[in-house]
Amino acid sequence: FKIQEPKNEPYNSFEPGSPEKKELKKKLKELQEEVIEIPAIIGGKEVKSGDTIDISMPHNHEHKLATVHRCGENEVNMAIEAAMEARKEWAEMPWEERISIFQKAADLITGPWRHTMNATTMLGQSKTPHQSEIEAVGELADFLRFNPWYLSQIMSDQPHSPNGMWNRVEYRPLEGFVFAVTPFNFTAIGGNLPTAPAMCGNVVLWKPSSDSIYSNYFFMKVLKEAGMPDGVINFVPGKGRSVGDPVFASHHFSGLHFTGSVGTFNNLWKTIGDNIDTYKTYPRVVGETGGKDFIFAHNSADVDAMVVAALRGAYEYQGQKCSAASRMYIPESIWDDFRDKFVDEVNKIKVGDVEDFTTFMGAVISQKAFDDITGYIDYAKEADDAEIIAGGTYDDSKGYFIDPTVIVTSNPKFKTMEEEIFGPVLTIYVYKDEDFDKTIELCDDTSPYALTGAIFAQDRYALKKMSKAFRQSAGNFYINDKPTAAIVNQQPFGGARKSGTNDKAGSKVNLLRWLSMRSMKETR
Ligand code: ALA
Repeated sequence: FKIQEPKNEPYNSFEPGSPEKKELKKKLKELQEEVIEIPAIIGGKEVKSGDTIDISMPHNHEHKLATVHRCGENEVNMAIEAAMEARKEWAEMPWEERISIFQKAADLITGPWRHTMNATTMLGQSKTPHQSEIEAVGELADFLRFNPWYLSQIMSDQPHSPNGMWNRVEYRPLEGFVFAVTPFNFTAIGGNLPTAPAMCGNVVLWKPSSDSIYSNYFFMKVLKEAGMPDGVINFVPGKGRSVGDPVFASHHFSGLHFTGSVGTFNNLWKTIGDNIDTYKTYPRVVGETGGKDFIFAHNSADVDAMVVAALRGAYEYQGQKCSAASRMYIPESIWDDFRDKFVDEVNKIKVGDVEDFTTFMGAVISQKAFDDITGYIDYAKEADDAEIIAGGTYDDSKGYFIDPTVIVTSNPKFKTMEEEIFGPVLTIYVYKDEDFDKTIELCDDTSPYALTGAIFAQDRYALKKMSKAFRQSAGNFYINDKPTAAIVNQQPFGGARKSGTNDKAGSKVNLLRWLSMRSMKETR
């Protein structure tokens, strides 16, 4: 059985007066007229724990979107039981039948559910229509179409059978359940982390970030409509420890599919280590954490191209991408030209309501994020070795708005050159042209992360030198382009060092982590 190579989903551009713009606006209005109740979904049933929190819009925090029921030990144990029950049939279902559910989900997302996925992501996570469309629709549909295609390739990969013998491998799901822990910043990652193991025959408990439950819940509805059997993916919103503790105490825990912070991933890894005797099988641990992603320029760089890359790389989705450009190295000889053009463009960026289709940046996700990010900005304001040359202003009275900020520092190890900020803050270090080699080493040595990086040069020798020197510095490496916006099946995504286990999202490598091979030899 072979499936056809899928195509990446094309995006709507929401031109003025276009039908898709009208439909999206209608959906945005409709959703805001109602405050919904979001239950846990366990074994296909809605479960209301009564322990609730409210969800509101980051760009208008007075506007409530939903009330969410959080899971505790009881609900999580129910979900484990439901998952293990569902596993009996799901793990035995032929993979060709399993994948058809995910392919159908992709068709629903790009068809009747398109504007709902887009609008819930815009409202709940403060994404602009474009930022939402490219991921909550495009990237998520791509994951749901390409992963089945990769799975079909894995299944057909069989060993050699000499005469008189039949060798084969069986790709079995893991013997237990997988725990998917997902971040707020991409609805597509929220969708991919539970579905990739599930299409391999695993059952899943999915704990969404508390800041993206709204759109994630609607994705659960899509999966149900696509025919996902009850109990295969169980939706268990809740506090980290309340959900995590019973999960990691379970004999049946067999894998973690995580995207989030280094601190959380390290803690989860340690907990798994401490509980290792509890488990029937060694759990698979797959995680993507943070980044301190760089743009490094040689003096032959095309300055205009770099201005666009820095602008989009640093500020799209308010810099809240693990791939966002957050530090930059520029040689003195092109600095003045770059600075003038860049600051001019940064000052033109429109920050505000994402429902105004001309806005470039919405609000940051929460009060906590606002406080953390503005803390870095205030630190730079006070420092002797840094200067803010654009932005630096913020206002949380209506929404969590922070203007795009550019810091220039004479200290290559300045706090904002080293630490992940996860907000619209770019720090620039200007180096002497003759220190090109030394500054490459410095850049590689400045952060423990290795997620994305971009280099800019027109001189081929300079490109070659940087590519080699930065070999271990980034799992996704961009040449004369921004370090963000990887596309499924074009740039498999993930980083090494402290950025994660580098089991690239949307790739065969990732799916193989959710399969356990049985090697079979039969003699005639
Ligand atoms: N995959 C996302 C990007 O490349 C994080 O920007």
